[in-house]
Amino acid sequence: SAHQWQAPSPTDSRGPCPGLNTLANHGFLPRNGSNITIPVVLKAINDGFNFQPINLLRIGAKLGLLTTDAEDSFTLNNLALHGTLEHDASLSRNDYALGDNVHFNETVFTTLANSNPGVDYYNITSAAQVMEQRLAEDKIVNPTLINTAKEFAVRIVESGFYLSVMGNVTTGVAPKNFVQIFFREERLPLAEGWERSEVPIGEDNFDTLLSGITNVSTWAPSGEVVCPWIRLQP
Ligand code: HEM
Ligand code: MG
Repeated sequence: SAHQWQAPSPTDSRGPCPGLNTLANHGFLPRNGSNITIPVVLKAINDGFNFQPINLLRIGAKLGLLTTDAEDSFTLNNLALHGTLEHDASLSRNDYALGDNVHFNETVFTTLANSNPGVDYYNITSAAQVMEQRLAEDKIVNPTLINTAKEFAVRIVESGFYLSVMGNVTTGVAPKNFVQIFFREERLPLAEGWERSEVPIGEDNFDTLLSGITNVSTWAPSGEVVCPWIRLQP
């Protein structure tokens, strides 16, 4: 059917975002990962995840346009431009300075995969711990690590994304197997029992989830770059 999972072909564009890659693998976004406009991406996110076109997503989509010279569309691979949206200490990709900031990396993902031991779900507390641990790991290996308030804010949103889209936006609880399939295969775990959020993910419930993660985090800025900045063009 139209929204069956299909592995990307070698010429299809994919990038550092497991959420948008998944939407392309299911045909909610163009399967070739190209010509993505703001209305197209907002509709795909809503159709695939029941995630409303809130301001935060609009801003994210607009920042996506800064990663290309094209005037009103981007490809999934454009999004890898380091310093616009793409950042260090990702959950499932290596740091830009360490080689490959685009493709899923099982070694990097081990930290999240093995978090919250003893139970079969991830939650707000484990998500915050994973963010801290990924940062601690990269402080050791990446002397150019960028860790300002901007990167922290973006990373909090991304943790909110997997908890809400693969789990429950209200409780912040997400089954481990759903989250792992989402990251490793960039596939909706429909066969495993995942269902699109029944509750629309929107401004209020998502903001509450982000505050929850922020409140259990003990983040502090570090590194040579002290001021938040945004790369404006390729
Ligand atoms: C990461 C773009 C929406 C899930 C990223 C990254 C980019 C990006 C550039 C790489 C950041 C990094 O880790 O260095 C976008 C844009 C979006 C969007 C432009 C739409 C406006 C979504 C949605 C989800 C999602 C709706 C829902 C599941 C994630 C996750 C990460 C991520 C979990 C973290 C990956 C990691 O740390 O390894 N996104 N994204 N994104 N995105 Fe998206
Ligand atoms: Mg990254």
